[in-house]
This record gives sequence, structure tokens and C-alpha cells, in this order.
Amino acid sequence: SVQQTLSIIKPNAVAKNAIGAICDRFEKAGLRILAARMLHMSREQAAAFYAVHQGKPFFDELVGFMTSGPVLAMALEGEDAIALNREIMGATNPAQAAPGTIRADFADSFTENAVHGSDAPDTAATEIAFFFPEGVCVRTR
Ligand code: CMP
Repeated sequence: SVQQTLSIIKPNAVAKNAIGAICDRFEKAGLRILAARMLHMSREQAAAFYAVHQGKPFFDELVGFMTSGPVLAMALEGEDAIALNREIMGATNPAQAAPGTIRADFADSFTENAVHGSDAPDTAATEIAFFFPEGVCVRTR
């Protein structure tokens, strides 16, 4: 079924000027950008977004990285968008990401893994509302 998912192009990928290359992969796979917002997250925002990881050994490094520069948050839509986005991204640990995936090509480390994508419909809804409280563009085709 048609789903929406939250994507973040992380600071390392933005710094590499890879926004266009990564969005091209989303669009070529049939995902449609319904909302997009560039922002430099505060520590409070990053900690709130990743609240589920609070207390984990990588949490401080993650918050430090996610606040190190601007990110592009996007709401993507398409058939099975959540799983499709995760397939295009590759494994969270870039050492395990399949060749040709975004993380295989743009990640620098487990933390600096280039992109984030929602993992389930409930988290997708929460994460989209986090960055787009005013809602996303209504689908036109
Ligand atoms: P993301 O999909 O954004 O979700 C949590 C992030 O924490 C993950 O991508 C990585 O950037 C980062 N991270 C760093 N170390 C780990 C780890 N050991 N396990 C999971 N996520 C990690």
C-alpha cells in the first residue's frame, strides 16, 4: 500500500554535497518528496528525535554528530515506502550495507551513516509530525 516515511540526509552527506545524488536515488526508485526542510538541529531537537536511543552507548556521539551541521528532513511517499527506503539506504551499519546502497556509497561510519529512515508506520507518522507539524503537501498524482 502507499505509505509515507521520514528521511533525513545527515550532516556528513550534506557536507559532501550529496543531497542531489541521494534524492535522485529516491526519485528513481519511485519515491516522491512530499515535504522538505533544511535545518541545523539543536541538541534538544536531536535528543528528542532520538529519544528511543537515550542511554545507549552511542547516544552522545549520535547527538553530537546530528547537530554538527545542517540536515535535510523529507517526507517521502510511495508504494511500500518504508521498506523501499530502507532497501535503498542499506544496513544501518555501513560495513554491512549492500553494494549500491546509499550507505555503502555515502556513509563514513556507523554513526555518520549518511541517512535516516523510519522503521515502521507508527514511527514514520511520529517522525514526519516531528519535522512537519503543519503537515505535508497533499498528493497530487
Ligand atoms: P539511524 O537510522 O538514524 O538510527 C539511529 C542512529 O544511531 C543510526 O542511524 C546511526 O547513525 C547511529 N548509531 C551509531 N552507532 C550505532 C549502533 N551501534 N547501533 C545503532 N545505531 C547506531
